Amino acid sequence: MENEIKEALLRIAEKDPAFLHQLLGSRFLQNPCPPDRAGPRFVVHPTATVSPSAHIELNDPETRIEVGAGSSINHFAWLRAWGKGIRMGADCTLNHYSMIQGPVTLGDGVRIGAHTVFIAVEHVFARRDIPIHEQGITSRGITVGSDVYIGSNVTILDGVTIGQGAIIAAGAVVTQDVPPHVIVGGIPARVLKARP
Ligand SMILES: CC(C)(COP(=O)(O)OP(=O)(O)OC[C@H]1O[C@@H](n2cnc3c(N)ncnc32)[C@H](O)[C@@H]1OP(=O)(O)O)[C@@H](O)C(=O)NCCC(=O)NCCS
Repeated sequence: MENEIKEALLRIAEKDPAFLHQLLGSRFLQNPCPPDRAGPRFVVHPTATVSPSAHIELNDPETRIEVGAGSSINHFAWLRAWGKGIRMGADCTLNHYSMIQGPVTLGDGVRIGAHTVFIAVEHVFARRDIPIHEQGITSRGITVGSDVYIGSNVTILDGVTIGQGAIIAAGAVVTQDVPPHVIVGGIPARVLKARP
């Protein structure tokens, strides 16, 4: 019986690989969270994929994570949500070892290279007489427009908005808003040129 099923699956794989991907994807990729986390607060579109090694944290009772159609979260990526949560639109890719931390909204078609970090949080350090870790944190959130290409090893700081169609060069530290359709790079990131 088992062999017959295996043979049938192999025949299907030859004729219709997309079906097999759908079948296996739905079992092994799309709901990697432990059952206590999956559900209305961790919403993964049926055509999106999330690696089982991705790390998902919902750090307050109200927050949520939404992963849009065709998007993928690759191996060892981290999503740490609180406040307004994390929303990825359609066809986004979060590559290996990248981290999204705090309230972050991505449009559609946002590509994010490996080892990139979104830090939508800042320590308060206004006083010298109190340790920084006792002064609290602020969090304004990060917003990224659609069709944005973010290279590897980029750091994006809290409060930044990145315009549609912008490109962030590898290794940049983005401290200010980025206009649409420009290429920025360096530390701190500056406009290198406009996209043709
Ligand atoms: C920015 C990038 C897209 C190149 O764009 P480009 O249009 O080919 O740019 P050019 O090579 O013509 O360089 C334009 C200028 O930007 C500078 N530049 C290019 N990449 C840079 C970087 N990562 N950091 C700082 N400056 C950079 C160049 O030195 C050049 O400066 P100059 O005009 O003073 O000589 C590319 O360099 C890059 O960083 N790609 C990201 C790769 C990556 O991480 N991929 C992950 C895939 S998931």
